[in-house]
Amino acid sequence: MKFFNKDNKSALEAKGLAQWIAFGPVVFQIARVLRNTGVLRILLEKGSAGLTQDEIREHIRIPAYGLRILLESGLGIGLVIENDGKYSITKTGTYIHNDPLTNVNMNFIHDVCYKGLFELDKSIETGKPEGLRVFGEWDTIYDGLSSLPAHVQKSWFAFDHYFSDLAFPTALSRVYSNGIKKILDIGGNTGKWAIASAHFAKDIEITIMDLPGQLEVAREKVKQAGLEERIHFYPANLLEEKTVFPKGFDAIWMSQFLDCFSETEIVSILKRCYDSVTEDQYVLILEAFWDTQRFEAAAFCLQQTSVYFTALANGNSQMYHSAVFLRCVEEAGFVVEERIEDIGLSHTLLKCKKSKTIHR
Ligand SMILES: C[S@@+](CC[C@H](N)C(=O)[O-])C[C@H]1O[C@@H](n2cnc3c(N)ncnc32)[C@H](O)[C@@H]1O
Repeated sequence: MKFFNKDNKSALEAKGLAQWIAFGPVVFQIARVLRNTGVLRILLEKGSAGLTQDEIREHIRIPAYGLRILLESGLGIGLVIENDGKYSITKTGTYIHNDPLTNVNMNFIHDVCYKGLFELDKSIETGKPEGLRVFGEWDTIYDGLSSLPAHVQKSWFAFDHYFSDLAFPTALSRVYSNGIKKILDIGGNTGKWAIASAHFAKDIEITIMDLPGQLEVAREKVKQAGLEERIHFYPANLLEEKTVFPKGFDAIWMSQFLDCFSETEIVSILKRCYDSVTEDQYVLILEAFWDTQRFEAAAFCLQQTSVYFTALANGNSQMYHSAVFLRCVEEAGFVVEERIEDIGLSHTLLKCKKSKTIHR
């Protein structure tokens, strides 16, 4: 592991970082409000010349007291600097204002996770998504996804799609390379992969298997794209052991899906995949592992995303370390025939086949 193996901060730096953590929620909310009120936007537009507080208020309707609080906190956070009473935006402030990755992460944390995270200690104790109660009485967030408030759904889907949208273009050519034409897309969600696959080649046929609520959305998108003849639907809850997997596909595809389950559940799902494919057919898994990232910030994002699963999603899954995940793949009876790194922003593609030596 190239990160997280040295404690090389001075005592002063360490104590400083501890204060950033202690005030973490304040730092987060100030940054978000500086972004949402347009203060960062106007400072970016005015460049290095900067603006006084009064000049900012000529452009944005905001009370003087509120603006002063935001800017003074923003100085400490490093989003703005001040010279002779004029404020200008920093590089970090610019990322908070307009970096797509930062914005999907920030909106996801605020709209989906923020209130529920208050229950994290209970979730750690019970292994249940105790924070999910802020939205409703479901066992997992997936059961309630199609009924979440519109702005929460928007941030959830934007977060999910941001990473898969970046990964899919490369993944398409890697997946449809071994004569694969007929694919079962488990956890296919709103049909993004299915629609992209159908556009990728005219002879590709996809069946999406997901919870009924999600398939309603997918059905509508597929209809709008005019692809009903080549995209089919198979509503099912994979947590129910009795769920029968359809057969006869060249490959099973699971993208950002197995991280929604505990290790035991992953093995159970993969064992059922094992029973539904032949020795020639593939199980293809697209996942982001925190230990295989090129950048420490990417590993950090995945480690923190895990906590959403703990407090909000289902209480027992995470963005996995690759070693933990690969143990599940092996336990279910598969070997990784090919492992392709650096798909999209942070993903690994695992091309798995049935192990010849398995005796279950
Ligand atoms: C994180 S999304 C992944 C979406 C998509 N594959 C992608 O790469 O963007 C996980 C999907 O798994 C589905 N899912 C979660 N639990 C499920 C279950 N018990 N049975 C069937 N599908 C489930 C969710 O409905 C959701 O569509």
